Amino acid sequence: MIYFNFIRRQRWILLTFLFLASVYWSMIHLEGDARRDQIQCPRITHNHSQLVNEMQTHTDKFHLNEDLTCLDKEIGPRIVQRGKYWVFENYIQANKRFHCNESVTFTTHSDPTFLNNLQPLLERWQGPISLAIYAPSTDFSTAVKAIMYQRQCQTSDLVRDLVTFHLFFDFNHMPPSFQPILKPVDISTYIAKCNQYSSEEINPVKEKLYKSVNNLPYPVNVARNVARETSNTHFVFPCDIELYPSPGFIPEFLDMIRRNDPIQRSPKPKVYPLVIFEIDEGQSLPSTKKELIELYALNVIHTFHFSFCLRCAMEVFTVGNRQPPFEHWEPIFIGSHSDPLYDERLSWDGQRDKMTQGYVMCVQEYEFHVLNNAFLIHKPGVKTKEMSFSQRNETSIEIQKKLVFETIAHELELIYGTKGRCTC
Ligand SMILES: *[C@@H]1O[C@H](CO)[C@@H](O)[C@H](O)[C@H]1NC(C)=O
Ligand SMILES: *[C@@H]1O[C@H](CO)[C@@H](O)[C@H](O)[C@H]1NC(C)=O
Ligand SMILES: *[C@@H]1O[C@H](CO)[C@@H](O)[C@H](O)[C@H]1NC(C)=O
Repeated sequence: MIYFNFIRRQRWILLTFLFLASVYWSMIHLEGDARRDQIQCPRITHNHSQLVNEMQTHTDKFHLNEDLTCLDKEIGPRIVQRGKYWVFENYIQANKRFHCNESVTFTTHSDPTFLNNLQPLLERWQGPISLAIYAPSTDFSTAVKAIMYQRQCQTSDLVRDLVTFHLFFDFNHMPPSFQPILKPVDISTYIAKCNQYSSEEINPVKEKLYKSVNNLPYPVNVARNVARETSNTHFVFPCDIELYPSPGFIPEFLDMIRRNDPIQRSPKPKVYPLVIFEIDEGQSLPSTKKELIELYALNVIHTFHFSFCLRCAMEVFTVGNRQPPFEHWEPIFIGSHSDPLYDERLSWDGQRDKMTQGYVMCVQEYEFHVLNNAFLIHKPGVKTKEMSFSQRNETSIEIQKKLVFETIAHELELIYGTKGRCTC
């Protein structure tokens, strides 16, 4: 009996010793691994003159007015992961670059079927556009082909000079191996065979897209965020690709910013909405406010909101906020990189996709400085926020509504707090 007890005790002592020893060894080992990792960390390979050069470009301050400065960003092709997506940022870059104080970037999104808007849009905008395109699977090469047509086969250089394209797709819907993803060097040497394009390659058909055939939701907020975050200018204009701004907008807007009128100097954050008009099918777009007013009198042009001042220089017309009666107002505005981003869990198909941004702006007491001398006009025949019956997916609207009200609203309250009558 005693003998057995002794052996048992011995065994326990032995086991305890072995256990402690193995813990000790593994600790040493892990530490060693950590040390080795440190040693093997990639070193920064810049030499000094390179480094100084980069620091200069990143710390040069540019002025918008006496109170407002901005910094340029490093802009180049970059592949990043974002939630369940691969994103090819700056995949096809505009030829022209602008310093952060020199222009306003129109940041927008689409699938490959909207590229024919670029030309008419640019004729009016005459400034940089950052366009994120959702292109899963075979839509990727459809998009590249259509982009190259727009860049190389048009009489004007506007698209090549001013539009930077970003493409993205789900991990689960990779481009197929028989349509290899072009590398930046392939893109820069790509030559479009303009006379061999079929009309479907120039203007891809919505119903034939991989996205449509497979009923994939449109990740609108991923696209919005990508388009905005990749743009270099201080002021950005997140807008729909079928909404065309009034000509001459950018210089007039920057002039107004440079004047820095007292109303601009309030300490609250501000954005600058534009009045939106719709125009009947077959009408040509008005270029000036005078033409706009004439068409308005003829009743071929429609709006919901504000009246207009015909002879004013660009200035702020009304200051609103997102408290009632404007709590459901979804204005389209010029803003900056400090404005809240869009919730990437929300899809276009589920609707209410901008509500979370609106809530945060309400709580942070944003001022909406409505501009009186600029306007947006829908591509003729297109209506604001109107989804045709066939496009509506009641299931996904219901799911998203639940997500916004039961989950996201609660998160936002915890993070940003509540204020007045701000609601999602
Ligand atoms: C440092 O880099 C610059 C730019 O790449 C190059 O011109 C220069 O020769 C390099 N200097 C040294 C010492 O390697
Ligand atoms: C941009 O900023 C630079 C440096 O402050 C200034 O010289 C230049 O005039 C500014 N350009 C515009 C268009 O405001
Ligand atoms: C509607 O949305 C649901 C949920 O997002 C999805 O599973 C379904 O495939 C969609 N139906 C159509 C016709 O797009």
